[in-house]
Amino acid sequence: MSKHVGFGKIILLGEHAVVYGYPALAAALDRGVTVAPVPTPKGGPLRLDIPAWSLSVTAATTSDHPVARSLAAIADALELGRPAVSLVGDALIPPGAGLGSSAALAVAVARALLEHAKRPLDPQVITAAASTSEQLLHGRPSGIDVAIAIAGGTGVFRRATGLRRITLPQPLRVLVGPSGAPRSTAAMVERVAEATASVVGDERLVELGALTDRGTAALLAGDLRTLGAAMDRAHAVLAGLGVSTPQLDTLCDAARTAGAYGAKLTGAGGGGAVVAIAPRDREAAVLAAWRAAHVEGFGANLG
Ligand code: MEV
Repeated sequence: MSKHVGFGKIILLGEHAVVYGYPALAAALDRGVTVAPVPTPKGGPLRLDIPAWSLSVTAATTSDHPVARSLAAIADALELGRPAVSLVGDALIPPGAGLGSSAALAVAVARALLEHAKRPLDPQVITAAASTSEQLLHGRPSGIDVAIAIAGGTGVFRRATGLRRITLPQPLRVLVGPSGAPRSTAAMVERVAEATASVVGDERLVELGALTDRGTAALLAGDLRTLGAAMDRAHAVLAGLGVSTPQLDTLCDAARTAGAYGAKLTGAGGGGAVVAIAPRDREAAVLAAWRAAHVEGFGANLG
């Protein structure tokens, strides 16, 4: 029995615009969700238990619980029926915080189910199964969360071409502030659709795509100041599209005042998390500023 991982993720630039085909810069966190298959007596239910999230469900397409439906959808996408297995997991990222928890879970579950069925862990098969779950939960996801949850590392994702991995000159240290406010990715994607009338050429989506290009070039050149400026601007554009909140704005302002190069919401917004990059000697000040705003942030190294 092995543990199967799905990585959590941070979107540094390009969320929401990525749904419309623009590039997004994203990286796997050095933490995520792990799941191991534990066989149960023949005829037993297909279960999933993640004590860290107080989550305990049995696969069922008609359940009220979204994860129970998602578990059933993954098993169906893999054409496994309902195998008699308990998937037991651990999670080092909070659920529903914009850190890719649902994709990380779906990828780890798909991998664990394939191992239990003694099938190869084919990335294409895992992508398809995890995407089924993401569509069920989030409406019309771009696929970026699943791509990063599978591949790890850092890369630029486009809907048309998938994830292009990039090699960083040195690991990037980011500060992550989970606001604790719940949010719905589907609702935020819908809000952007309303704000832009789903016009792909909307100038705010175009600008978010251009900021991804500028920020990626800066990251590759080790120019964190320019990357930070692109993140600040992206936050303002996302706020203009209606997906920030007063709390996320406050957390980003607090990080900048404490000396960060830049800060923005990450993921769908409407709650969830913020991400900041800061000089090493300002990290403690950023985390303290967030703590004063009742948010326990953490540092992560992106590779
Ligand atoms: C969610 O992590 C990122 C969004 O762009 C939605 C998506 O790409 O599926 C908001």
